[in-house]
Amino acid sequence: MDKFIIKGGKNLSGCVEISGAKNAILPIMAASLLTKGKSVLHNVPHLNDIKMMAHVLRVIGARIDFEGETMEIDATHASFCEAPYELVSKMRASIYVMGPLLARFGSAKVSFPGGCAIGTRPVDLHLMAMEALNAEITIEHGYVLAKTKKLKGGNITFPKVSVGATANALMAAVLAKGETNIYNAAIEPEIGSLIDFLNLMGANIKGKNTDHLQIAGVKELHPAEMTMIPDRIEAGTFVIAGAITKSPITIKNCVPEHIQILLEKLKETGCEFEISEDSIKVIPAENILPTDIQTQPYPLFPTDLQAQFLALMTLAEGTSRIEDTIFPDRFMHVAELNRLDADIMMNKNAATINGVKSLSGAEVMATDLRASAALVLAGLAASGQTTISRIYHIDRGYERIEEKLKKLGADIKRIKG
Ligand code: EPZ
Repeated sequence: MDKFIIKGGKNLSGCVEISGAKNAILPIMAASLLTKGKSVLHNVPHLNDIKMMAHVLRVIGARIDFEGETMEIDATHASFCEAPYELVSKMRASIYVMGPLLARFGSAKVSFPGGCAIGTRPVDLHLMAMEALNAEITIEHGYVLAKTKKLKGGNITFPKVSVGATANALMAAVLAKGETNIYNAAIEPEIGSLIDFLNLMGANIKGKNTDHLQIAGVKELHPAEMTMIPDRIEAGTFVIAGAITKSPITIKNCVPEHIQILLEKLKETGCEFEISEDSIKVIPAENILPTDIQTQPYPLFPTDLQAQFLALMTLAEGTSRIEDTIFPDRFMHVAELNRLDADIMMNKNAATINGVKSLSGAEVMATDLRASAALVLAGLAASGQTTISRIYHIDRGYERIEEKLKKLGADIKRIKG
């Protein structure tokens, strides 16, 4: 039950290095199950979600060595085709093993993920994709049982964009007999990175960065080695840290193009940037202007930056409106930000934020990964002391965030539970 204690109101300065992308690494770790032999992943951060996925793969029988930022996954002896409730209930992304286990072993038993703080998150599209590839799906005692003699290529048209279902469908289709077409596929950079890794393993996937993916199934795959892309959500969070504390910080080792939409929206608030191929220097606005946001699938505004941007709008000179169309209930941070003297009203899946002159420090509680990042940003801007409890949420997706912030001059410390 660690806590953060933040003394806010300070300007930040200097540079911060971005880590590898959690949401790209999790499906790639699962993809290593598709073949015997050792795959090697570089630029892998020590996040709790990544450690959890490693645990899931070990339960299945893979051997994992994780030294520094390099992870070696040897799935030669993988054989136990199950992701148990104890693990899936802690991390939904465990469902990513379904496609690879079905493709390699013809069977997968995966617990239903259960509830989530950011809202209802069904997995019907994952199951629809497996059935379209000739898998038989049954539900028993809270588990999905997927079975097939042999996966066969097919056509999958997603009624809505799903990152997870696109990833699972890809990892199943690469070893299916014949050709698969995926329509209305997700085009997030994390999906592009998964396609790169699968093609390095010997898969035959065309259509990267488009919503129509064509996969010609192959007989077998081989291990691969790849450096993981930088985390665009971590990068976006630090860019907003610069904007909310009015600090000219530099975010290094990122892909500015991956957060183009965030930079455009921040320009509407008065921010400017100096951008290079792999870094962003924030030129903060004197006065933060209000702007409206509606979250949508990539390349539009990501729901994973909604809470952080909302924290910024609490200090805007005027009223803004933020709507989340991906996770309509993803507003647990609102009540906590109002404890810091913000002025936010909720109406269904939209928040109306009346900007205030300043926030004042208080005790608040983290409820999910991105909400906790928003509370840290608000705490950095608030006058006085902010105490954030339940920060285990933030350790799931941000590597040593307090050390990175301290290096930028923030007054933040972790109090061990
Ligand atoms: C991924 O979740 C990310 N997680 C989420 O980031 C991110 O918020 C989300 O994509 C959207 O960008 C990982 O990559 C591990 P979806 P995922 O399937 O794959 C509905 C973070 O903060 N849906 O794209 O679970 C769903 O309810 C996390 O790092 C179905 O209806 O999201 C949502 O409304 C939080 N049926 C929409 O689609 C399904 O079978 C998009 O969800 C699947 C999804």
